[in-house]
Amino acid sequence: AQQVPDILSPEFAANPYSAYRVMRETAPLIWHEPTQSYIISRYEDVERVFKDKKSEFTTDNYNWQIEPVHGKTILQLSGREHAVRRALVAPAFRGSDLQEKFLPVIEHNSRALIDAFRHTGSADLVTDYATRFPVNVIADMLGLDKADHPRFHRWYTSVIAFLGNLSGDPEVTAAGERTRVEFAEYMFPIIRERREKPGDDLLSALCAAEVDGVKMSDEDIKAFCSLLLAAGGETTDKAIASIFANLLLHPDQLAAVREDRSLIARAFAETLRYTPPVHMIMRQSATEVELSGGTIPSGATVTCLIGAANRDENRYSDPDRFDIFRKDLTSATAFSAAADHLAFALGRHFCVGALLAKAEVEIGVDQLLDAMPDLRLADGYDPVEQGVFTRGPQSLPVRFTPVTD
Ligand code: HEM
Repeated sequence: AQQVPDILSPEFAANPYSAYRVMRETAPLIWHEPTQSYIISRYEDVERVFKDKKSEFTTDNYNWQIEPVHGKTILQLSGREHAVRRALVAPAFRGSDLQEKFLPVIEHNSRALIDAFRHTGSADLVTDYATRFPVNVIADMLGLDKADHPRFHRWYTSVIAFLGNLSGDPEVTAAGERTRVEFAEYMFPIIRERREKPGDDLLSALCAAEVDGVKMSDEDIKAFCSLLLAAGGETTDKAIASIFANLLLHPDQLAAVREDRSLIARAFAETLRYTPPVHMIMRQSATEVELSGGTIPSGATVTCLIGAANRDENRYSDPDRFDIFRKDLTSATAFSAAADHLAFALGRHFCVGALLAKAEVEIGVDQLLDAMPDLRLADGYDPVEQGVFTRGPQSLPVRFTPVTD
């Protein structure tokens, strides 16, 4: 049998996709000692765990993973408590709030970043754009002072370093814990202020939200905002970097998207399938569970490999090919992301911000294509993906003829 590289090894980080194939075919359920978890990789198994029709799984494992940096968030909750908490926050991320209040915020923030480099003929789409755009959007949606964007960005960097700290570097852990304190000291007075004088922003909407007589405490709101740094920032950041890396490496598909911008939706869906920002999600079994790969005992941590499931040859034809025209993207134009891939998970914890992410990517890609008429990778540059739990290109230097106006 082929050897499966350890998910924490440098060999795996360099190219997880070939290891994913071996896992799906020869070891679809593995006990992994270092993470003390069962790893699953087949589409049907990961889908089954996410959908969780029989309530066999909880997210209790998040208590030790994310509590130290965020506090208690909706990700850690299950059952009715989760349903109510989710109903409190979800309306702000869809429908009229998204359309009327937040689309202008997205357009403005993307434009401001592009204006800083469009006359120069070169940029790094990761550092100059992707790592800044979604975080700035969240800060503006919350109605925070523009002058605080750099501070918000620093907390963002510290939080994602904490969550990705696989080697347990004590300095990164300490910085993450300091961020939790600083973030709370910053947010609490602003939350109190918005309770007294509400505005037309996300923070005021969270303060006012009420479902079945339940309202969010100051601590709940602060924890949710902290979660948004990673859940809404890092993910969309990596999605934007990856959609450009994929298109730049497939110039014919880039040309098609440039010509017909309605194809951005397909390019986004295919990017989320082919190179998802979040490669692994954990769950905890509440009972013994039978999967296609074998049996998981009750009380076990389960690592669901989204990156592997999204390339399962039993679900997708020619899965290792990036193809925005693939027939498997059933709903890319109408956007019900749930049918196309597992990048947003499924079921009760399905990404609250999926529509917001889609709006950010569609607007951002459209504006960037306009600003960079003959966009190409810098000479000799080959994009390199980095990361294990979350993954994306670390840098994307590009060249283009400067736009003069
Ligand atoms: C949940 C991915 C963008 C907010 C999730 C989950 C995934 C995910 C996989 C499920 C986590 C789990 O089940 O354990 C993504 C990707 C994005 C993205 C790939 C970008 C392409 C966003 C944005 C926001 C957001 C823009 C908000 C600003 C959330 C929240 C949850 C969540 C609050 C928790 C939902 C719950 O527990 O009920 N996301 N996300 N995400 N996402 Fe996203």
